[in-house]
Amino acid sequence: MNILVTGANGQLGNELRLLSKGAGHHFIFTDVNSVPGQETVYLDVTDLGTIRIICDSENVDAIINCAAYTNVDMAEEDKDMADLLNRKAPGNLAAAARERGITLIHISTDYIFSGDGFEPIREDAVPSPRSHYGKTKLAGEKAIQESGCDYIILRTAWMYSPFGKNFVKTIHHLTEVNDTLKVVYDQVGTPTYAADLAAVILHIIDSGKLSQKGVYNYTDEGVLSWYDFAVEICSLSGHRCAIRPCRSSEFPSKVRRPHYSVLDKTLIQKTFGIKIPYWRDSLKACMERL
Ligand SMILES: NC(=O)c1ccc[n+]([C@@H]2O[C@H](COP(=O)([O-])OP(=O)(O)OC[C@H]3O[C@@H](n4cnc5c(N)ncnc54)[C@H](OP(=O)(O)O)[C@@H]3O)[C@@H](O)[C@H]2O)c1
Repeated sequence: MNILVTGANGQLGNELRLLSKGAGHHFIFTDVNSVPGQETVYLDVTDLGTIRIICDSENVDAIINCAAYTNVDMAEEDKDMADLLNRKAPGNLAAAARERGITLIHISTDYIFSGDGFEPIREDAVPSPRSHYGKTKLAGEKAIQESGCDYIILRTAWMYSPFGKNFVKTIHHLTEVNDTLKVVYDQVGTPTYAADLAAVILHIIDSGKLSQKGVYNYTDEGVLSWYDFAVEICSLSGHRCAIRPCRSSEFPSKVRRPHYSVLDKTLIQKTFGIKIPYWRDSLKACMERL
């Protein structure tokens, strides 16, 4: 298959690049930025005309959309840009997919939910985003669903990798240069190693089940707080920093983050027959690459 990947120089895109080697498909990795040593075709996902041109010239069979506006705090200020990238752009990709009868694989987030509950959140739970980022990501899902294209939307959370900026890399650094560190314990969820999500995407493509249109949750397995996560990152780093649990209210923010955002993964496991790694094993695998 010819597979178009957008936002290929981000966390997930980079993991797809690595897994694509030997995957038996032709990948077209695109982004608006370039990385030395990485072949990247320029594609701005806000530009429907160019999306159409690349889909036709490369005879694209499926699109994986990794491009997004992912800075949750900045999205509160930079509302128009977040809306353009997280709502309009998925709508563009969906239009191109519908016109050509191809499938769009799109990534969404736990931030479309309020996170006020205490039970794993199923795909059919009622969304109630509390941040502008969450609102734009929900609007992106709707734009895809209303376009009439074939789609697979994967909702994920707490993503990390050796690439870009993320919690694992930040804590790895902070515990090296500080003796003590406060981390919130009243936000609970499950991390996702971007390499695991990339593997799931390729598994879905290879399983021949791209026709199983729908919305699916995917994170790694387990339940923990950011505090627990930080303690494990520090321990695996071999650092001696003392990590203290604190409440979210000690870190005032414009964005109210979900307190409980564990996603229920029963549907993706049943539909695609995937085995989900435990978060601690995946964290160890990532830390060995840092
Ligand atoms: N990271 C998380 O914790 C998390 C959690 C839940 C869901 N998700 C979702 O997972 C997906 C992938 O996240 P990620 O962490 O891999 O994102 P990321 O690292 O921020 O990568 C996004 C990529 O998209 C590029 N991009 C920006 N504007 C673009 C445009 N107009 N056209 C094409 N590409 C553009 C970015 O380039 P620049 O860097 O130059 O802007 C970047 O290379 C996103 O949909 C995100 O919402 C992420």
